[in-house]
Amino acid sequence: MVDDQELVRKDSIYCSHGDTVHYAEPPKIFRGCEGCFLYDSADVPYLDLQMWYSAASFGYKNPRLSEVFKAQIDTLPQLACQYLHEEKVLLAEKICLANQRRFKEKGRIHFNVGGAQAIEDSLKLVRNAKGKNLMFAFMGSYHGRTLGASAITSSYRYRRRYGHFSDRAQFIPYPYCFRCYYGRSRESCDFYCISQFEKLFETEYYSVIDTKAKESEYAAFYVEPVQATGGYIVPPEGYFKRFKKILDAWGILLVDDEIQMGVYRTGKLWAIENFEVSPDIIVFGKALTNGLNPLSGIWAKEMLINPTVFPPGSTHSTFSSNPLGTGIALEVMAMLEEENYEKKVSKSGGYFLSLLRDLKKRHPEIGDVDGLGLALRVEICKPDSFTPDRELTEKMFIEGLKGTLDYKGSKCGLILDIGGYYKNVFTLAPSLHITRGEIEMAVELFEQLMNKCKKS
Ligand SMILES: Cc1ncc(COP(=O)(O)O)c(C=O)c1O
Repeated sequence: MVDDQELVRKDSIYCSHGDTVHYAEPPKIFRGCEGCFLYDSADVPYLDLQMWYSAASFGYKNPRLSEVFKAQIDTLPQLACQYLHEEKVLLAEKICLANQRRFKEKGRIHFNVGGAQAIEDSLKLVRNAKGKNLMFAFMGSYHGRTLGASAITSSYRYRRRYGHFSDRAQFIPYPYCFRCYYGRSRESCDFYCISQFEKLFETEYYSVIDTKAKESEYAAFYVEPVQATGGYIVPPEGYFKRFKKILDAWGILLVDDEIQMGVYRTGKLWAIENFEVSPDIIVFGKALTNGLNPLSGIWAKEMLINPTVFPPGSTHSTFSSNPLGTGIALEVMAMLEEENYEKKVSKSGGYFLSLLRDLKKRHPEIGDVDGLGLALRVEICKPDSFTPDRELTEKMFIEGLKGTLDYKGSKCGLILDIGGYYKNVFTLAPSLHITRGEIEMAVELFEQLMNKCKKS
């Protein structure tokens, strides 16, 4: 085995540092994983509260999914995407029927590999349907890092070094009520943010509509129903219903990015179900294969994706509906049908959130905790409970990765992920199979980390 030091040395010479590995210095190396835990070279366990950004939602080395993976390797591991295979067709059927039950709409699936690639496919679908290339998206949004996805991702940091993005989205404030863009409060605002969005459509001189043609220049609005990288922000009840009315009035499509929040992260197959609106297109990825063999895709209403409007060859990628991915995803969908994940996730999420709320009472540095299902947020602030404390957040993140916490007399670590507009939010995405004991362990370790880092 090549030791850690040597790996770091080789990484510094041979690997691009353009990814996110060097967010932590020195970069962290893991050698094993199981359930909710990662293991380092000294076999120290690290309780993982981000599970590969919500890709490994059903636990590392999930025995059932690993078995299916192995079986697929022994039967049909490889097949060019120009041919059909059973797993692809049955998976598409399962997702379509699940959506038909939920949204009373017929649709079809188009698979791809990564999340951003599926976003690209959705952009093609929208452009094809509308003949327009301008989109709305939310401030705080993250839709991936390909060029098309970067154009609808809010942060300029991701675009800065890559020239002019002529089709950069128009970004609208997300209902992030803890830090309302308009300085209002949730209790009394009466959705001021929506009325501001609606105002854009009052006259053509606000630049988004042609009043004579009764048409918007914008083809679609890209939405994360619970904003993920933006800091696991849960919108207030009723928001999306009012929001959707504006889109409907102007024929603007609703594209629902479920790449991080889909597949029961929020207690529903799709996070948007929590808000009682129907999307025109759903984009999914990550947890559908539990992070084993990547698979992503889009579901779209029949009118947008039927073979007449989206004929053969409209888009393609070599690995798009790879049999390893579709095989595992089919088993994930079967698992979801057999067990009541809605109940399971709401129960664990509710318990986790209640412990976090208790923790907040003991630490003024926690400005906000919130969550939906097992998508949980802890916002770290100065002792005034509001001013973002990026430094403390970063310290806790790094300290958790050291593997020097103590749990019942044994050394362990805690794996966290930082998100949020001010990089001061822990976005917690534990395994959907996390036990009550592991939730208690998580909160205990989190408090240990806080105490340790506050002191230093
Ligand atoms: C909401 C959302 N959309 C898109 C993406 C991009 O997916 P990928 O990293 O697989 O390209 C992500 C990734 O984190 C995401 O959270």
